[in-house]
Amino acid sequence: MGIQIKEGACTSFHLFGRAFSYVIALTPEQQLVQVYYGPFVHPSNDFSELLKASPVGFSLQFESGLPYEKLSPEYGTFGKHHLKEGAFTLMTPQHVGIYDFVYDGYDIVTEKPDLEGLPSTRGGDETLVITLKSVSEPLALDLFYTVYSDLNILAKSSRFRNTGEKSYMIPMAMSGAYALGAGKYDALTFDGRWIKEFSLNRHEVHRGRQVYDNLLGVSTHAYQPYLAICDRLASETHGHAFGFALVYNGNHQMVVEKDIFEATEVKLGIHPHGFTWQLSPNEVFYTPEVISVFTEKGLGGISDAFHPFVLNYLSRGLAFEHSRVLVNSWEAMYFDISEEKLIQLGKQAHKLGMEMLVIDDGWFLNRHDDKSGLGNWLVDPVKFPNGLEVIQKETGLELGLWFEPEMTSDVNDPIIGTGHVTKSRNQYVLDFTNPSVVKSVFTKMCAILDEYPIRWIKWDANRPITEPYSTTIRHQGELYHRYQLGVYQLAQLLVERYPDLTIESCSAGGGRAGLGMFAYASATWLSDQTDAVERIRIQQAASLFLPLRSLGSHVTACPNHQVLRNTSLKMRRDVAIFGTFGYELNPLSLALEEADAVKEDILFFKSYRDILQYGRYMRLQSELTGHTNEFAHMVISKDKKTILVAIYQVLAQSSWQGLRLKLTGIEPEATYGIDEKRYTGLYLMHVGISITDCFTGAIQPVIGTLGTGDFSSALFVFKQLSHDY
Ligand code: GLA
Repeated sequence: MGIQIKEGACTSFHLFGRAFSYVIALTPEQQLVQVYYGPFVHPSNDFSELLKASPVGFSLQFESGLPYEKLSPEYGTFGKHHLKEGAFTLMTPQHVGIYDFVYDGYDIVTEKPDLEGLPSTRGGDETLVITLKSVSEPLALDLFYTVYSDLNILAKSSRFRNTGEKSYMIPMAMSGAYALGAGKYDALTFDGRWIKEFSLNRHEVHRGRQVYDNLLGVSTHAYQPYLAICDRLASETHGHAFGFALVYNGNHQMVVEKDIFEATEVKLGIHPHGFTWQLSPNEVFYTPEVISVFTEKGLGGISDAFHPFVLNYLSRGLAFEHSRVLVNSWEAMYFDISEEKLIQLGKQAHKLGMEMLVIDDGWFLNRHDDKSGLGNWLVDPVKFPNGLEVIQKETGLELGLWFEPEMTSDVNDPIIGTGHVTKSRNQYVLDFTNPSVVKSVFTKMCAILDEYPIRWIKWDANRPITEPYSTTIRHQGELYHRYQLGVYQLAQLLVERYPDLTIESCSAGGGRAGLGMFAYASATWLSDQTDAVERIRIQQAASLFLPLRSLGSHVTACPNHQVLRNTSLKMRRDVAIFGTFGYELNPLSLALEEADAVKEDILFFKSYRDILQYGRYMRLQSELTGHTNEFAHMVISKDKKTILVAIYQVLAQSSWQGLRLKLTGIEPEATYGIDEKRYTGLYLMHVGISITDCFTGAIQPVIGTLGTGDFSSALFVFKQLSHDY
């Protein structure tokens, strides 16, 4: 399965998985055109007639008579056959654009090529490499395609090669374009800001270009590098849906365009604004990888593909088989930490069953608030007179540590910027375009990681790049991308030297949730918004692409620090366990009965951790499908024997009509039990769990626990009993 090539009068390349086909055909002018992306069609079919759709009106005609305006270039550039912007531009002072690229052959390689400095996915079936060459210049383009046939995933990237003796400029190099045809589609993107990450934006794709982008250098919350396009009526289980994600955390652009012929095309890649790469003689340039999936099973189909894909083919740092139940010092104590306080906190956390203490910001020299100290990376001897190991010994917990490697508080350090450089959160961005700056940060981090038993780091980045300028690079147009390569270089150095180290990526909460960092990290801190109500929305939105195992989620104190809302400990648990699950409060401040409850909750989580983190997760009701007050989701174990279902109510409504929460993906013939009740799989899927209101606004399931009033939740565990009924 995977790749079929038909050579002849009309050569075609058919990439396919169990349930999708992606077909590229070659025109008589030797241009590569994307002719089909959709449900699986047997490769024996001839797709060449798709090239010949009749020209319209004054459409441009070429020798072959093909209507190029209506065709979708596979990786095109403006100028001759393609009269739209295209996916790349190559220039010299004499050429606005070098547009005469033609097909030059293909190869199939068994090992997925490395993208030299960029993160990329592993494994997959074979990789198809199609080469284009310029007719006039010593330039070549290699287009890489790897199919993950079981998951219906296609990974694409491209390489520019200069085989001549003069330099060229690349002002645009997107990672890939996709022709989705003339359907009526919705686009789903996630915009946001600090403590408001992953806000869903679902709207109809209309004629014209819709652009979602990020220009701040360090990944931001603005537009996450994820995009879904689906049938207007697509639900969680039905409808055609495409999912796209960039394996990149720098400036990105995602363009959705419905053209004058009503055809929709999307393209994703490095943002062309502020980008111009010099391709010197004998140099190559790789674009970041872009991952796509096609499914006929709605939005849930996107998650079903991406979740195992991220876990098995991208995410690193699964050094611990499961994520640890951690306690993080940030919301517990903020900067007011010390050996003594953390030991006390840690001892109690250990008693309650927590497994790791993460020492967040404030542990290093001269760091008493956010005004100074970044870049020191030396343990503060006043706060920690005996170093850090003593904390591990005294508490019995493993240790995690916060770093903000790319930042400094000192304007005299080698920073990005020129003239008066803006101080944001009292800090500056180090010039990571310079490999020696990266190396020196690495050396400082190694000193800590070598001395102390740190198993886990939280890698934060709390400000964007402004006044982009580096004193060391040859072209300022390369700054943003070179900066990002520096970030990946440091991550790579760390994981090579500390294979057992786990990394959680973070950027002022969820500003670095793009797939690129997952090549080095196992989780991302999704948001500094820790309110249970806000968190359901954030976590469910992120779960469209990211598996629960990667969603950093903690139970915090109430009133919540961001919205001052009070929610029950139960609801906070019911939300946080659908993620990595940890605590970010001081366990010593819990009342006795709360501490008992936390102990129980941790035991509960541990007994279902494997299922929660590696089972199949499905949203039942979420904002993605228009729900605004009652949210629900479920996880089913791989053997389908255990199901966890949670429902959350934001505001209680009197005389609410109630609902029947219908499960999906379970064994239809099996009998599932909860308390004394018995249900068949078919009953749970077609009739559902009945949830009524009891006039007071409480959600009252006919089974399980009652959730009371505003901000309530119920969690059910069903166990399969037998196959007979
Ligand atoms: C960022 C992170 C927080 C915390 C602080 C520390 O805002 O998102 O979780 O680590 O930095 O300064």
